[in-house]
This record gives sequence, structure tokens and C-alpha cells, in this order.
Amino acid sequence: MNKEKVYVFDTTLRDGEQVPGCQLNTIEKIEVAKELESLGVDIIEAGFPISSPGDFNSVMEISKVVKEPVICGLTRAVKKDIEVAAEALQYATRPRIHTGIGTSYYHINYKLNSNPDEILERAVEAVKYAKSFVDDVEFYAEDAGRTENKYLAKVIQAVIKAGATVVNIPDTTGYTLPEEFGAKIKYLKDHVENIDDAIISTHCHNDLGMATANTITGVINGARQVEVTMNGIGERAGNTSLEEVVMTIKSRRHLRLYTDVNPKRIYRTSRLVSTLMRMPVQPNKAIVGRNAFAHSSGIHQDGVLKRRENYEIIDPRSVGINESSILLTARSGRAALKHRVERLGYKLSKAKLDHLYEEFLSVADKKKEVNDEDLKVLVGKEKRGPRNIEVKILQVTCGLNSIPSATVGLQIQGESFLETATGNGPIDAAFTAVKKMVNKKVRLEEFLIQAITRGSDDLGKVHVQVQHKGSTYYGFSANTDIVTASVEAFVDALAQIV
Ligand code: KIV
Ligand code: ZN
Repeated sequence: MNKEKVYVFDTTLRDGEQVPGCQLNTIEKIEVAKELESLGVDIIEAGFPISSPGDFNSVMEISKVVKEPVICGLTRAVKKDIEVAAEALQYATRPRIHTGIGTSYYHINYKLNSNPDEILERAVEAVKYAKSFVDDVEFYAEDAGRTENKYLAKVIQAVIKAGATVVNIPDTTGYTLPEEFGAKIKYLKDHVENIDDAIISTHCHNDLGMATANTITGVINGARQVEVTMNGIGERAGNTSLEEVVMTIKSRRHLRLYTDVNPKRIYRTSRLVSTLMRMPVQPNKAIVGRNAFAHSSGIHQDGVLKRRENYEIIDPRSVGINESSILLTARSGRAALKHRVERLGYKLSKAKLDHLYEEFLSVADKKKEVNDEDLKVLVGKEKRGPRNIEVKILQVTCGLNSIPSATVGLQIQGESFLETATGNGPIDAAFTAVKKMVNKKVRLEEFLIQAITRGSDDLGKVHVQVQHKGSTYYGFSANTDIVTASVEAFVDALAQIV
């Protein structure tokens, strides 16, 4: 099957970087540009050279080290802008100047104080001037989304005649609907005589949440370049997101299109951009959000385990996500628990798994999500089997200006005991109560509470070491309540003595 290529033009470092608070220094920009090169984008818009010395420098430095993609610099339809862009691009192997001007009624009248004829002339002049520096010149008709089609076609025909190799049709304000944007591209295809001498590009903003839909409709109607940013970052509601467009083209084969982006690098590029630009990705963001491939309801988990395609249209591994998509929560069933436990390399009998499931539910009731570390602890307890001493009741009182005390109920070899004691803290009080019931001479040698690693609802892990008649015994437990974990760990060690 013959497929046509769609060129991916990444503007994370230009339109994406315009977001307040997302500014990068030159070193960070080079890091992102290199990652975009490995991702396989065709064109990197590295900045707007005249806008600041920092942007100029970044375009120049990126041009020196990033050699595979075309490096592009933005300009207005202003001679000085074009000269500065050409200078910033002097080391690029394949430089492109991206010049343009507003073509909508609003821009012509209220931004540029001009008229349609003068704008057409300025557009042509800018392209010709840019062409005197580089072969590859892209023209943008700013606010093309709200530009009348007849006038837009006239401008586009004139700039192609002047030498533009790519014509960009931005929906600058994110105003159009997919059918309107698609019809605009088709109109240009049908009415611009020399349209086949240039590539049509889409550049959609997301003000109404239509950026990806508009871009795809543009491509269906003949555009062959898409201007996108990683994670969809950009002015206001953002730009079209690279990952959504690339994965739509990849997943919907009937479109007969392809890109050269390596989808396996999408997730890592997304993380890098999010971290360096200090811009968190919303959890439900398509393709790269934390929950994009997470299944938490029992029915969905069961469906995915029976066959991934039941609830997934994309294999998360194909975009570089290797974590399990099965979230273990209080709503998960036994099938999900078994799957995760087996993924960790454990094989449990049916009886042990049933028991583990009860333990898992009691942890899941206290925590939002049970992670692999928690599971290892729970499986460890399961493998070790029941102890001859078990903590049945634990109640502590502590706090400022109070005497810490603890009441502990133990079951020792089937018999129930209850004791209360005070101490210098709730754990000390509980240990004293336990010692009274166990009635063995033991010395606590080490007591270690492992730091919480993920969140305040995480399992606290406790290791203890006790001495009895010259021998050392170790105890371990984990619980969302660290006092309970401490007492259980202590009892775990004592169980080996009794
Ligand atoms: O949104 C827009 O119109 C732009 C142009 C400068 C290409 O970013
Ligand atoms: Zn834009």
C-alpha cells in the first residue's frame, strides 16, 4: 500500500517556548533539539532570532550541533528580521526562514493598519528577500483561519510564485471547526494554480480544543506538513500536540499516511520537555498523560487482561511507556492482582493468592494506589506464612503534653492477651506492653523505619533486630501506619523466639 509522508515541523522551542514560565536557556534548548532530532522530526523551529539575543544565540548554537533536521528561524515580513534570522542560521546544514504577515480582516485593519493590496505586496517582498539568503522559505499567513478564502488564495499563489517552498495556513486564534479548516485547505488545493509547487502546512491552536482535529482534517484535505509542539504546549490553550497527530496517523492506517517520527521515543521526549519547561502534563492528556493507559476499574482491568485491544487502541510500549497499565486500587479484582504479582516474578498458589487479595484490599482501602514496592512487601509476608504470635489490637495515645500509652492485644499460640503500658513515645509504650505479654528477656538492638518514598499515604517499612540468649532475630513489617508496622515488626522477631 502506497503511503504519503507528512512532514513533522516541531515548534516546541519557538511557539511552545512563548508560554510564560517555560523559557529555556541555550543549553536546555540544545538538549531538547537533540532529543527532537532523535525523535525523528523533519523540521525544528529553533526560535525567533530578532526577538532577543538569547533566541538568536539558541538558533545559532542549535544550527551548529543538530544536523539531521531542517533548522528554521521565524521572522516577521520585515527586512531586518530576515537578515538577523539568516545570520543566526549561518551554520545550519539545511536552513529555513519562516516569514509571514497577518492576512485576516482583523490583522490587516487593526494590527497592521494597512489594506489587502499592501499586505500582499509585503508578503511577496518578504519571501523574495528571504529567498536571497536561503533556498528553503516558508510563508505564514497569520490568522489564516479567519481570513477570507479568496484573498488567502491570492496571497498564497503570489508567495509561491515569489519562491515560497512551504505555505503555512495557521489557525492562529484556534477559531475554526474541523470541517471549516479542512474546507480551507481544499479550497487552496482547488484554487491556487501553482499549489503543487509548495507544501501546505497546518499550524493550529487549541483555543476550542480543536487543534488536533483541525490538523488531521487539514492533512486529509491535502496538507503535508504539520506544525506541532510536544505535549501541545504553546500560547494560551496551546498548539497541536505532536504525539496526538503522529499517533493518529500511525493508528488510522486507512489515511495512507506516515511520518518519520519514532513513536518509541515519544514518552521520553514528553518527559524531557515537561521537566525542562517546568510544565506538568495533565494526567488525562492523550498519549503521554499519567492516566492515558491506566485502567483502574475491575471490569476494564479484566477486559485488558483478556485481550489488551478490548480497551486500548494503542499499545503503551509503542510510545515508550513500559510501566504496567493495570493500576491496583481498591476496585481491582483478583485477576489484576495475579497479573501484577506474576509480572514481579512471583508464583503463588490459589490459597495464598486469595489470602494476599484480602491483605491487598486492606492496604488499598488506605492508599489510593498499591505500587510494586507495596506488593513485594505483601507477597513477602504471604510467602513467610502465619506466625505463632499475632497483633490483634493496637491502640495508642500520644501527642504534646500527654503521657504516651499503648494498649496491645496479642494472640500467642491461639491464646488472647491484653496489656497497657506507658513509654517515652507510642512505639516505646507498645513495645513495653508486648514484652510484658511475651515474657522473654530480649534486647532491641536495631530499629529502622524506612523513609516514605512516594507520598504521605505510602507504606512505612520497619526492620527490627533483637538479641535473645546470644542469638540475633530479625523482624520486618510494613503498614500505612508506622506505629502498627513497628509493633508488627517487633512481634515478627519475637515470634521466632516463642
Ligand atoms: O499562530 C501563528 O499564527 C504563528 C505564526 C507566527 C506561524 O505562530
Ligand atoms: Zn502559533
